Amino acid sequence: MTQAPQPVRLADYSPFGYLIDSVELFFTLDPTATRVKSRIKFRPNPEATDPRFFLHGEQLTLISAAIDGAPVSPDVTEYGLTCPVPNAPFVWEAEVEINPQGNTALEGLYMSNGMYCTQCEAEGFRKITFYPDRPDVMAPFTVHIDSDLPVKLSNGNPEASDGSLWNDPWPKPAYLFALVAGDLVAHSDHFTTASGKPVDLNIWVRAGDEDKCAYAMDALKRSMKWDEEEYGREYDLDVFNIVAVDDFNMGAMENKGLNIFNSKYVLASPETATDRDYAFIEAIVAHEYFHNWTGNRITCRDWFQLCLKEGLTVFRDQQFSGDMRSEPVERIGNVLQLRARQFREDAGPLAHNVRPETYIEINNFYTATVYEKGAEVIGMLRTYLGADLYRAGCELYFERHDGEACTIEDWLSCFEEIAATDLSQFKRWYSQAGTPKVSATWTRDGDTLRMTLSQQVPPTPGQPMKEPAKIPVSMGLLAGDGTEILPSTLIDLDSPSVDLNFDLAELAGGKAPDHVVPSLLRGFSAPVILDAPLSTQDRALLLAHDTDPFNRWEAGRSLLREMLLEEICARDISAAAEARRRLVWQALKDFCADASLDPAFVALVLTFPSEDDLTQATVDAGVVPDPVLISDVRTEHMRALGSWMQDTLMDFYNAVDPDTPYSPDAASAGKRALRNTALSLLSNPDNLDLARAQFDGATNMTDQLAALSVLIRDGDRTAAKAFEEQWQHDRLVMDKWFMISVASAPANEALNAAAALSQHPLFDWQNPNRFRSLMGGLVANPAAFHDPSGAGYTFVTDWLLKMDSANPQTAARMSTAFETWRRYDADRQGMMATALDRMAATPDLSRDLGEMVARMRA
Ligand code: ARG
Ligand code: ZN
Repeated sequence: MTQAPQPVRLADYSPFGYLIDSVELFFTLDPTATRVKSRIKFRPNPEATDPRFFLHGEQLTLISAAIDGAPVSPDVTEYGLTCPVPNAPFVWEAEVEINPQGNTALEGLYMSNGMYCTQCEAEGFRKITFYPDRPDVMAPFTVHIDSDLPVKLSNGNPEASDGSLWNDPWPKPAYLFALVAGDLVAHSDHFTTASGKPVDLNIWVRAGDEDKCAYAMDALKRSMKWDEEEYGREYDLDVFNIVAVDDFNMGAMENKGLNIFNSKYVLASPETATDRDYAFIEAIVAHEYFHNWTGNRITCRDWFQLCLKEGLTVFRDQQFSGDMRSEPVERIGNVLQLRARQFREDAGPLAHNVRPETYIEINNFYTATVYEKGAEVIGMLRTYLGADLYRAGCELYFERHDGEACTIEDWLSCFEEIAATDLSQFKRWYSQAGTPKVSATWTRDGDTLRMTLSQQVPPTPGQPMKEPAKIPVSMGLLAGDGTEILPSTLIDLDSPSVDLNFDLAELAGGKAPDHVVPSLLRGFSAPVILDAPLSTQDRALLLAHDTDPFNRWEAGRSLLREMLLEEICARDISAAAEARRRLVWQALKDFCADASLDPAFVALVLTFPSEDDLTQATVDAGVVPDPVLISDVRTEHMRALGSWMQDTLMDFYNAVDPDTPYSPDAASAGKRALRNTALSLLSNPDNLDLARAQFDGATNMTDQLAALSVLIRDGDRTAAKAFEEQWQHDRLVMDKWFMISVASAPANEALNAAAALSQHPLFDWQNPNRFRSLMGGLVANPAAFHDPSGAGYTFVTDWLLKMDSANPQTAARMSTAFETWRRYDADRQGMMATALDRMAATPDLSRDLGEMVARMRA
């Protein structure tokens, strides 16, 4: 009988009893019996009060241990060992044996296609050797690798030309340790830092993939330069290595000097990668590189502080992408993601603080809340302080805390000091879960516009009552003729409500306009849900005239959403609704007539809200969502708008010459995005010639996949077969095929498609990318996943349980498919609850999935 897993609490933090002066590791690699010897110099930590010597260690076979050369017999449990030690500096030596081949959890040292690689964050190092596996224990590492494989890599600088010896002079926590060995080839380049230090850059891949690394390398060099210019951060080793791995639980990992990447975020060629893939590669290469300062040189004291490195580093990579591409287009993309993933999380049973205070399995907290909401919090800090004080506060942070393991308090103090301000209320963003709702109301009183902004932070699990948050609301005012009479102004909504008076005559410089339209939350200045009583005409005015591109897009999006909701919620199917529909169509058409607009931006405005967005909007409107109805209404409206706007859309479609040589830059990608958005709106089961021609003639994956998605959606059965034959040899392309074959399929076919694909010879379920493609494809098709029979729930549950026995992390992550179960009708709720209960009752359920299921059912 194993004991129920115990929660870890932020409040219980205490430092480790020992400091480490150096770590030396000796690996003798073998697929099933790798030997790891460690030689660690410990000394008592003068700041610690607890002298217990506990080393984490899991799934290790201890061969021998010694202190100062004398053999010892530690007390070993399932989770680690304890041992009496001297109250003075001592040398710990141990030898363990591990089985990389048998490691299907992909945490610690494992094998992927004959190559050895590691993933240690958060707590994987304890599967490699006995060690205080906690981020506040930092040490310099030396690593010896004994293997016949030609390429051997670890952190830091190489000290032998054959890769058998590596030294990392920068003290680091064990989660940043990495080792790779395999038959790899490098795509190499160089970078010279601002202070003239040369750095060798290598991207290591399997032979045959070396021609797919150029974009990632270019993104790396641009990231290095950008961090020097924007944050004054230089690289600090002689080499920077990136390795692409096919089997990887997450996106990528920032191990010091040796980043390890999911191959889908490295490899790209025009024929095999989409524009979206290129954008992700750029962002993730930057993200991992930026961690060298925000994460590695300054790390986290404990895992509760995860957002210290992740929120900040996401914010930095978003700034970078905004500088490299179109800033508004990037901002809109980030907000779409935030709403789709983080607002969804925050509205359900898995809601948690940006800085959680308790966890059972830390891997379950690598979430949209920690990452994306964490990034929004940094953005708000910068908004309040301004760019200059923000930069100065960052400089102070780097200077003061270099080489340390820090907390959110350490971070915030730097800004309080630099700006001579008190951030205690702002800090609530870290300790209150839930998405605040901001309501705006206004009335006209003669020439005065009286506005009230109020806020409400909803209750979340364990947090029934909330204090007012500090919310930066950027706003402007437009007159009824579209002129801006108040440019962007920052309102500090730091109490339950704030009253504002605007003298409209003064603002307009003469006569007060008859009608004014507020443009609120410009640039999405805070991660909140805005409720503003704007009419259809007001929204159309903002779409046409707002000077803030984000709010222009937001106006278009809300017009589409409201139009769809009227039908989904059966609110109004009268002539008035028909008139409003015409107004929305006309507003979109007028918008499209502006030839000066960035095509990427137009594509975003013409993209319909997702089925999941519409589901949440339906719930917010107080109506129980019917996934099948939502899907049908969305499809019908896309077709109706597509045929009404046919000429405009054909002009967009024909504006791009598909034979222009492919370039992944944002401007070219934007043109393709608009062309493919037009294709999606123009196509329907009776009109697939355009899509077929595009599919047959496509010379890049962006256009091929866009056409395939439309063809699958509209019932063409041949294109998917042709695609499979063409690409069956390419793993990353086949991942797309698995995903789209289910995600884009008509709802009544998607379940059968998923079941058939799960028997496909290429459904290598233990590969996380492949598993996520198929399961994620079904979950991305809500009308199929929520099929009234419950078959979608059963299918995903069966596979989650199977995956859980091999790879708990990947299973737990995918289980969030069920986090919205309380949204639905009683039948669906019952079936989803039954699915969760079946998981909970499964013997030997992992701690990862166990915690997720328990939280979802709580
Ligand atoms: N630090 C990595 C990143 O954000 C993520 C690694 C998370 N890994 C995990 N097993 N939870 O780039
Ligand atoms: Zn990260």
